Amino acid sequence: MGPLFNENQCSACHTDPASGGSGDQIVVRAARVLADGSCDLLEEWGRENIRSQATPALRSLGIYREEIPPEANTVDRVAVPFLFGLGLLEAIPDSVLLGLADPEDRNGDGISGRVGRTRDGRLGRFGFKADHADLESFTAAAFHQEMGITNPLRPEPERLNGRPLPEGVDPLPEPELDHESLALTVDFVRFLAPLPRRTPPDTQSARLVERGEALFRTIGCASCHIPVLETGSHPVEALSRKRVPLYSDLLLHDLGADVRGVCGPGAGPTEVRTPPLWGLGRRRVFLHHGRATTLSQAILAHGGEADRARRAFEALRELERVALLRFLESL
Ligand code: HEC
Ligand code: HEC
Repeated sequence: MGPLFNENQCSACHTDPASGGSGDQIVVRAARVLADGSCDLLEEWGRENIRSQATPALRSLGIYREEIPPEANTVDRVAVPFLFGLGLLEAIPDSVLLGLADPEDRNGDGISGRVGRTRDGRLGRFGFKADHADLESFTAAAFHQEMGITNPLRPEPERLNGRPLPEGVDPLPEPELDHESLALTVDFVRFLAPLPRRTPPDTQSARLVERGEALFRTIGCASCHIPVLETGSHPVEALSRKRVPLYSDLLLHDLGADVRGVCGPGAGPTEVRTPPLWGLGRRRVFLHHGRATTLSQAILAHGGEADRARRAFEALRELERVALLRFLESL
């Protein structure tokens, strides 16, 4: 592992309420928006994650962490998301996402979802910038970026803020992880089940949740947080032709100033992938940067393409707001 890393295991960050969940860590990412609006991922600086820890070998040379490159003009501090149900998201065909995208806003509803792009130009859906196509690619990047473990998909030796490492601090030959171990980790993530929805304790609460779900649709939340998508045919029965109640379109949307952060290969600084809303009742912080500590705060931070929906939320009567929040907590 290392010599630069953020944590020493996936479940150091993805841990609450069970392995695959979320954690208190914040990961720093930095990149540079160029004059033409494109995103320079500062590859020569060793990619966009800024690692916060170093192994004893590196610390003995007086190096404790990476620094944010001076060239970076966009920075993000990213909270740890749930990994539950990601195998189902992976099995939703690309054609479904392309069908939902409306980059030119042809239907005139003020919402123009775009598909994400990976750094090699494929359609992306994982990561808050929708910059990874599948779980294998994300997991390989997580081994490399979060733990400093090279692997068959990410064999390039680690660098220290873009410079070669000092002699002797990274003695193992690359790749440090074999193909089978990578594949097993990917399968672990792929087969994490979605968290089950919470059943309301009595009929009155059940009615409130139902009312909240109806409002969620009528005020326009469901234009991006699409309640259900279907997986395509898949060799694994558990993932094949399943209805997935994810409440997301997996597309990028411009939500304005409150979500501004780093740029990505196919995403500007204010564009974020619609996150799935399942499991919401078990999370403690919200939005990709985790700066919202209540669901109301998260909703009120929606600007840009979600401006109209946010204003409709603000215009709700007190009891309607409560119903909407109860619905979200039930997910
Ligand atoms: C230092 C904390 C940390 C460690 C360690 C870590 N992650 Fe993550 N993980 C994050 C953060 C923060 C994000 C959100 C970043 C993003 O979306 O680009 C994330 C996102 C993900 C996602 C994408 C989720 C989505 O909804 O698209 C996957 C998959 C993932 N991690 C898997 C792993 C695996 C597998 C490991 C171990 C090899 C791992 N992570 C190790 C912090 C961590
Ligand atoms: C234009 C698309 C769009 C609309 C409309 C929209 N959202 Fe969102 N929503 C997003 C995106 C994108 C994010 C992620 C922002 C971030 O992570 O910084 C998000 C994040 C959230 C979150 C935080 C989820 C988490 O895991 O942290 C909640 C809760 C939420 N939305 C609820 C709503 C509600 C309720 C409405 C209706 C009032 C709504 N959204 C309307 C796109 C939209």
